[in-house]
Amino acid sequence: MFKVIQSEMIVPNMHLLTVEAPDVVQEIMPGQFVILIAEEDGERIPLSISDWDSENGTVSVVFMNVGVTTNKLAALQAGQTIPAVVGPLGLETEIDKFGTVICLGGCYGIGSLYPIARALKKEGNRVITVLEARSSYLFYWEDKLKEVSDQLLFISRDGTKGLRGHVGKLPDIINKTGGAVDRVIINGCTYLSKRGSEITKPLGIKTIVSLAPIMIDGTGMCGVCRVSVGETTRFACVHGPDFDGHEIDWNELLQRRKMYSSEEVIPMRQSKCEDHAHHISD
Ligand SMILES: Cc1cc2nc3c(=O)[nH]c(=O)nc-3n(C[C@H](O)[C@H](O)[C@H](O)COP(=O)(O)OP(=O)(O)OC[C@H]3O[C@@H](n4cnc5c(N)ncnc54)[C@H](O)[C@@H]3O)c2cc1C
Ligand code: FES
Repeated sequence: MFKVIQSEMIVPNMHLLTVEAPDVVQEIMPGQFVILIAEEDGERIPLSISDWDSENGTVSVVFMNVGVTTNKLAALQAGQTIPAVVGPLGLETEIDKFGTVICLGGCYGIGSLYPIARALKKEGNRVITVLEARSSYLFYWEDKLKEVSDQLLFISRDGTKGLRGHVGKLPDIINKTGGAVDRVIINGCTYLSKRGSEITKPLGIKTIVSLAPIMIDGTGMCGVCRVSVGETTRFACVHGPDFDGHEIDWNELLQRRKMYSSEEVIPMRQSKCEDHAHHISD
């Protein structure tokens, strides 16, 4: 069993969970993920690693409460245990001295971008971190990211922090750097990664995205996480989750994710009903 060290909602609907997993910590590299199980016989879900502490043997994930399992994880309290933390899984994000790198993060990707920005900075890159959210109250880990970035910029849809708008503001930011951006790394929802990649493609800036297709086993056996990258078929769990954003068949990826939507809504409703029923019987 894996002990929960910290569990808190850091901004509305976004949770930070830190668990003791000393064997997992030994091997972690930025960009990798873990598979968690919230309760015995529960579903396995992949979550990116947002931070870790090698001395204390803890792993942290930031997740959005969107369905059955994330709902259960969000309800955990420090001191409780979960049956499984498997990982680290996937390949690490390529870290090298690229020059100027824009790290673009939205949603839970703000968390998973942190170890990547930290490693890039350590490697001697000029790191420009750009965070995107609907409104100022949805940004988190600003202090942590500031520490590992040369510049920390914000884009909010309602204009309450930084530039007003969405990822479409990326060209303005690139222009302000004198156009000298050597790489863009995007962590966040599929829409952010897709739009970001479409923007950088005509500018010829290599763009790496962390994909989140549906995954089942996370070990390359089931084929559920397959994505088309250029002429090849790749399994995001073992060949990714990072891929060249200019090579991905985004429409296919979005279609495949939708395929499972109805199956996910039903268990969520059932779980809510069961919770409600327990509540009444208590
Ligand atoms: C490599 C990888 C890293 C990820 N990292 C994070 C992270 O750091 N933080 C975070 O909040 N989320 C992350 N996700 C997405 C996360 O796995 C899903 O949100 C989670 O599985 C939903 O489970 P659920 O039971 O709570 O919701 P469900 O009831 O199963 O589904 C709710 C919604 O989540 C989507 N979803 C369901 N299962 C998956 C899945 N296996 N992969 C992707 N999307 C799914 C569905 O399309 C649906 O819209 C990552 C996914 C992958 C593949
Ligand atoms: S999740 Fe099964 S092959 Fe990737």
